[in-house]
Amino acid sequence: MPTAEAAPPRFTHLPFAKLRAAPRSCVGGAATEGVGSLARECHGARSVNILFCGDVVGRSGRIAIKTHLPELRRALSIDLAVVNAENAAHGFGITERLCGELYDAGADVLTTGNHVWDQREVIPYIGRDPRLLRPANFPAAAPGAGWRLHRLADGRAALVVNLMGRLFMDALDDPFARLEAILAEHPRLGDAIAAILVDFHGEATSEKMVMGHFADGRVSAVLGTHTHVPTADAQILPGGTAYMTDAGMCGDYDSVIGMQKESAVRRMVTKMPGERLQVAEGEATLCAVLVVTDDATGLARRIEPVRIGGRLTPAIPAP
Ligand code: FE2
Repeated sequence: MPTAEAAPPRFTHLPFAKLRAAPRSCVGGAATEGVGSLARECHGARSVNILFCGDVVGRSGRIAIKTHLPELRRALSIDLAVVNAENAAHGFGITERLCGELYDAGADVLTTGNHVWDQREVIPYIGRDPRLLRPANFPAAAPGAGWRLHRLADGRAALVVNLMGRLFMDALDDPFARLEAILAEHPRLGDAIAAILVDFHGEATSEKMVMGHFADGRVSAVLGTHTHVPTADAQILPGGTAYMTDAGMCGDYDSVIGMQKESAVRRMVTKMPGERLQVAEGEATLCAVLVVTDDATGLARRIEPVRIGGRLTPAIPAP
């Protein structure tokens, strides 16, 4: 695995200066203009501004996080930054050192999925790092935790829950029953908990949509991970939960879901075993989701996709 971490010069800075002059709006309300409407206040109500970054794949994904997350935090007045990091270590798993790098870049909580144990050193480590989550529906004997009640800088509390689907994945415990149990163990959304974010790591779009509707009205956001492809269905569900089937990856999109395209294509076209897939290391697109909640209810009033750098069409929310 490469160890040099210097950012390549081709990464560009975010055009926030231009966007600061643009009109912006809150979902369900009249448009407002001027600087600072995302500063935890929208139409006079307090909010939690959440940035959720999709699966970080390898070195280029980590560089994208280190390059863009600090500025995103500032420009969007982010209260809670959650990063799915299960592919951060050359595409397979996460290590203690890489957790430190992502925290230093501004991540508050790290989520994972089916690759959580790929780097064996994480097995004894995860119990010492309460900000690193594994899916909560792993069998009870698994080390680590599947949720975290995270204290925001201003003292409010946000609950982050990591779950994994079972369709076309390893069959873990029931994610719906697990979420139900976790919610029952905590105060209702909007009381002592300002926001609840669910990272649902799954392959099947249908299962993710079921999770969204299952949790609608009871959590602030259900955001999918794992497929490494961002979906275009960001929406606020009827009950007030922000939903997006997949956030996409923070990785090189000149690839096959983050892996070098040549060997991936050869394998699938010839149906012959090949060398182990290697992570693609061109410039990454940071794929993320911005969710703005309403403290009166804990539910969402805004959700927008974020795409910066690399090959995908940019999407940068107005501050
Ligand atoms: Fe995954």
